[in-house]
Amino acid sequence: MGIPATTFVRDRNDVLPAVERVGGAPVVIKLLEGTQGIGVILAPDKKVAEAVIETLQSTKQNVLIQRFVAESKGRDIRALVVGDRVVAAMRRTAQGDEFRSNVHRGGTTEIVKLDPESQRVAVQAAQIMGLKIAGVDMLESDLGPLVMEVNSSPGLQGIETATDLDIAGAIIDFIANQVAFPELDVRQRLSVSAGYGVAELQIGEGSGMIGASIADSGLRERDISVLTLSRGTKVVPNPKSSRVLESNDRLLCFGELESMRDLVPARRRRRARPKLGPLPPQPHEDEQPSA
Ligand SMILES: Nc1ncnc2c1ncn2[C@@H]1O[C@H](COP(=O)(O)OP(=O)(O)OP(=O)(O)O)[C@@H](O)[C@H]1O
Ligand SMILES: [Mg+2]
Repeated sequence: MGIPATTFVRDRNDVLPAVERVGGAPVVIKLLEGTQGIGVILAPDKKVAEAVIETLQSTKQNVLIQRFVAESKGRDIRALVVGDRVVAAMRRTAQGDEFRSNVHRGGTTEIVKLDPESQRVAVQAAQIMGLKIAGVDMLESDLGPLVMEVNSSPGLQGIETATDLDIAGAIIDFIANQVAFPELDVRQRLSVSAGYGVAELQIGEGSGMIGASIADSGLRERDISVLTLSRGTKVVPNPKSSRVLESNDRLLCFGELESMRDLVPARRRRRARPKLGPLPPQPHEDEQPSA
């Protein structure tokens, strides 16, 4: 998941280096407190960027510089994330030669079916922000979808009109389901039997379990159940016992803590330090020099 290359500008001397940091002109300059496209400026070259930023900084405004994602051609995507899926998405397209697609700047909206990669990026962006419901704005770049913004209280009217989908209904259904499955502290619940608990085990480079299926790994014999398997960014819930383990897999396990302890990657050993000698004997109270 990525965002368009972005940097802050400290002072006047930093403008040209900042433009280079995001890959050179043209660049987009944004006021930190902008909205509805106001305060979003396209600077075609370094000279204009310098003049604009100098002007803004003279009025004590904070600005950032961003790579201009030209290939997005005045369009952006708004994905509405509810829980772990995108329930609706629309594309906004700027009017004429305007590059800002905001509806307040005359942009038009249409329903769009997002490709799986964009859906994944939108959901991940919401999750990173800790949001169950979010409006994620993305640009379609040559490098794939780039996240511009994650809104924690997205408006629904615009996207419901554009997509003709009942998004409010989807949100209500999601919340109702949350009530059926209230969040519980799994670790705590599973720790109630003495000696049992949840731990994440990592299959180390030299582990004997590499190449073995979960069934043949010997975990079950050690009273350990695998709840999820994480491989890179992929997570497999309830992995089948036939699944073959690979180096660097991370296994979220439930089991006997003592037998899991042997499988937890060894902590780096602490540097050897000289042992502390015995403490000097404490003087008796009556031996204290009197004040
Ligand atoms: N780096 C960029 N490259 C190309 N187009 C951009 C870029 N940043 C913004 N835009 C265009 O400008 C529009 C407005 O930018 P942005 O969403 O960042 O500001 P805003 O709408 O004013 O703020 P907010 O979304 O917080 O209300 C975007 O919808 C997009 O069409
Ligand atoms: Mg915006």
